[in-house]
Amino acid sequence: MKRILVIFSHPALQSSKANKQLLQALDGLEGVTLHDLYHQYPDMYIDVKREQALLAEHDLIVFQHPFYWYSCPAIMKEWMDLVLEYGYAYGPEAHALAGKQWLSAITTGGAPESYCSAGYNQRPLLDFLLPFQQTAQLCGMHWLPPFVLHSFHKLKDPAALRRCGQDYRQLIEALRDEQLTQAQLSESAYLRDLLEVLS
Ligand SMILES: Cc1cc2nc3c(=O)[nH]c(=O)nc-3n(C[C@H](O)[C@H](O)[C@H](O)COP(=O)(O)O)c2cc1C
Repeated sequence: MKRILVIFSHPALQSSKANKQLLQALDGLEGVTLHDLYHQYPDMYIDVKREQALLAEHDLIVFQHPFYWYSCPAIMKEWMDLVLEYGYAYGPEAHALAGKQWLSAITTGGAPESYCSAGYNQRPLLDFLLPFQQTAQLCGMHWLPPFVLHSFHKLKDPAALRRCGQDYRQLIEALRDEQLTQAQLSESAYLRDLLEVLS
């Protein structure tokens, strides 16, 4: 069973709908450690050694956050700048993160159709995730197809709202229990595409 660390960043959790739903869905899931950065570090002063120790104890690192200005909330960038340091995460002698998996789990305001050449965001969402993908690559980590939840605020049907969380939980469980093959993971653009394999 893989040990999962969810590194969560949301500067205004009290007004969140999408991320709250996703977090609730993970509640009580065995093998999952939730690590809320804004809660842990309200002054943004990140304890690098503590973060590196947490990383060492886990195999799959999930970065869950709302998509902000085509990127992540500020604290996650601060976390990356400080924790993924030379000699630890990258560099000739650095293997601390090698072989671990990176999963970006993001929520967006923009609808799926806005993320294409004809949409107002002009590019596929995956293009905007390239800095994260390349960061994972440089650290020797395996990039997984991202879990993306689009325009949650537009969903009205309570069953559809719940299903988003259930999908997330099911996929995290499948990754934990290694139910998805390497081939399935590398052939899928988005993690949710693999739900049909699991059903
Ligand atoms: C500062 C800020 C920047 C945002 N930038 C984007 C963006 O680049 N692309 C996008 O699709 N949505 C963007 N949004 C919308 C958020 O992604 C969306 O509100 C959030 O994912 C919903 O999750 P929540 O209910 O957990 O807050 C932005 C929102 C804020 C407040």
